[in-house]
Amino acid sequence: MKKEDLIELLATYGQQEIIEYCKGLKPHEEDLFFKNLEGLDLKVVFELHKQFSLQDCAVPPGQTIKPASIVPTPRINEEKEQEKKAKAAGKILLRDGKVAVLIVAGGQGSRLGFDGPKGIYPISPIKNKPLFQLFAEQVKALSGRYGTDIPLLIMTSDENHDDTIRFFEIHDHFGLGQETLHFFKQDMLPAITPGGKLALQTNTSLFTNPNGHGGSLKGLYDSGILDMLTETGITELFYCQVDNPLVKIADPVFLGYHTIAGADVSTKVVRRKSIEEKVGVYVSGRNGDAIIEYSDLSPEYMSALDDRGNILYWAGNTAIHLFSLPFVKRINDHGFALPYHCAKKRADITDRTGKLQNLDIWKFETFVFDAIPLAARTCCMEIERDEEFAPVKNKEGVDSPKTARSAMIALSKDWLRKAGVTVGSEVTIEISPFFALDEHELVQKMKDKKLAIETDTYFGE
Ligand code: UTP
Repeated sequence: MKKEDLIELLATYGQQEIIEYCKGLKPHEEDLFFKNLEGLDLKVVFELHKQFSLQDCAVPPGQTIKPASIVPTPRINEEKEQEKKAKAAGKILLRDGKVAVLIVAGGQGSRLGFDGPKGIYPISPIKNKPLFQLFAEQVKALSGRYGTDIPLLIMTSDENHDDTIRFFEIHDHFGLGQETLHFFKQDMLPAITPGGKLALQTNTSLFTNPNGHGGSLKGLYDSGILDMLTETGITELFYCQVDNPLVKIADPVFLGYHTIAGADVSTKVVRRKSIEEKVGVYVSGRNGDAIIEYSDLSPEYMSALDDRGNILYWAGNTAIHLFSLPFVKRINDHGFALPYHCAKKRADITDRTGKLQNLDIWKFETFVFDAIPLAARTCCMEIERDEEFAPVKNKEGVDSPKTARSAMIALSKDWLRKAGVTVGSEVTIEISPFFALDEHELVQKMKDKKLAIETDTYFGE
């Protein structure tokens, strides 16, 4: 958009203050200010401000929810047979080169308080491998296993894009080829004051925030990556967050259930630890399946119990999904279809004189799970938390690097014990995906060795 058009748009939406502010800037600063506005969807923000001035920021809780139908972790023989069938179907998709992997890593990671992109955080118990390295190695190992180059897509944001690219360059892209690894930036959106005024981050830029993990489904489309994947025959996208080092990337069982169900969107869920656990809940709502944020679900629902006294709405969101690419295209073809949420926060805003002020601000974001109710068909699968879900959110306490590392060690030990290996209780273990991608592979390699491990051990490539 040209400068004159931007000024007209600002005037239309009552942003006289910011127009006057620009007039006071030096010419090169003014140019920079308008350059920084390019690519920002100002209109969307003004319209959202209008919308959220009339309604509360929270999405009203669905009043007619019931527990969703979910594929259970297999306990009885029939379920084990279903799982085998699903795994076989998933393996075919992988061998046929139908699957790409997306890691969303554009978030601000403010709770972890790490200086740099969260994906660079060193997490593995012995080698201190960063999160990004764990994912890249899994993708490489999977590609080797299935004889195909599985594309790895990483979504960044303005705030961490350059650092992320540099990190991968320094590490030679962990051996992934240029045709395999793709980065794209999610959109930023200006935040707005409760009175509907744009705010400044610096004297030449607006206060903005990444447009939420839902922005990944828009970014894939806008960047042309979606078309590129489709042209190479890829039909399914495995989606996960950068903060879960236990994730089983492109799990064939999950892929199999997804494809057998003909699903547009599939989701892995874990049993909620307690009524208090702050996790979104997978339910069946008025318009089909949906994930509702814990803060949007009434205490009655959050604490409801079944006949046996177990949590009724037990399915906690892990943010592990599969999306069919035609579906991702469909929700973009006529304008991005995901709804925006509004978060009312306090933030450090630069005032017109250049001073920082801690003020109320409204931020707008989309959530990737809001794609679920838009799907014609969905699938949801239960997984064991200990095996696949250990998010790194906080510096300390729950969901911290410490809990994630403990979970990684416990899982490695569990695999070894299943292979008949004795492992000391204080010993730290790390297993590279190049050594074994899963329990089955590890058991095959170790079962006859009759090992007893008494010192910290890394099973490398
Ligand atoms: P979280 O909601 O946990 O946010 O993101 P965060 O930014 O990582 O951490 P806090 O809340 O500031 O402490 C879950 C996942 O979604 C990605 C994050 O990178 C993480 O993988 N995400 C989140 C994005 O890619 N973009 C966003 O705009 C928001």
